[in-house]
Amino acid sequence: MAEAIVAQNVTKDFVLRRHKTFKQMSVAKMRGQETVNRFNAVDDVSFTINEGESVGLMGLNGSGKSTLLKVISGVMKPNKGTILTRGRIAGLIATGAGFQNSLSGLDNIFLNAAIYGLTEKETKAVLDDIIDFADIGQFIDQPVGTYSSGMSSRLGFSIAVHVDCDIFLADEILAVGDKPFKRKCMTKMEEIRNSGKTIVYVSHAAASVQKMCDRVIALEKGRLLFDGDVDEGIRILDYGDEDGDELAADDAELGADV
Ligand SMILES: Nc1ncnc2c1ncn2[C@@H]1O[C@H](COP(=O)(O)OP(=O)(O)OP(=O)(O)O)[C@@H](O)[C@H]1O
Ligand SMILES: [Mg+2]
Repeated sequence: MAEAIVAQNVTKDFVLRRHKTFKQMSVAKMRGQETVNRFNAVDDVSFTINEGESVGLMGLNGSGKSTLLKVISGVMKPNKGTILTRGRIAGLIATGAGFQNSLSGLDNIFLNAAIYGLTEKETKAVLDDIIDFADIGQFIDQPVGTYSSGMSSRLGFSIAVHVDCDIFLADEILAVGDKPFKRKCMTKMEEIRNSGKTIVYVSHAAASVQKMCDRVIALEKGRLLFDGDVDEGIRILDYGDEDGDELAADDAELGADV
């Protein structure tokens, strides 16, 4: 089977400034102290995802999932290592990413579609479907800057799923949507999966990962903690905290809902 995403020793680091003012920084410099900290948000991560695989990317808050997704999408370059992808990439890597707040929803559809590489003609062909799926009514003509976070995520997701892509990336698409929209998203994601596209799906909701994915990659503090079977990955990620049962119940409800 052909490879869709190959990550080799991918490392992405960020600079954390230790001092707020120029004075503090100068004093620290004179004393020979470090003025910045570098830390690895993604640390030496390697994996291969084949065409048609549907992978759940999991891990605690701050473990590096969104950063890794941005590296896969090409929005960020790794500091070390390489990432190779095959085909057109679409998806929702951050709510409202790529939107111009002062433009209307409609204008943003054309803008966003152009960023994905669609021509005006191609966009017009799917325009009605995008508007129908987003289902935000008359607000489609209002500036995106006035949208609620759920509304921008609906529009962003709707554009992304109507782009003919080979790799679909989704970062917590279920986090802000309401229940009917969550259900619609899951059905659409399953359609995308069944059409043979490669999916990387970031989620904290174990039930939806079980439903959607055939493999789990888990990160812990930027490092690869686990890569393999979905149920085993979820079990490893259940860090055995006391709230575990309660959370599992919430999750089961979400799984049943979506
Ligand atoms: N642009 C940035 N500049 C500095 N630090 C950053 C930047 N982007 C992310 N980070 C840091 O990288 C780490 C990983 O962040 P990331 O957003 O990838 O986590 P995540 O696994 O997606 O978490 P969550 O589950 O909360 O969405 C965090 O400590 C975060 O503060
Ligand atoms: Mg994130």
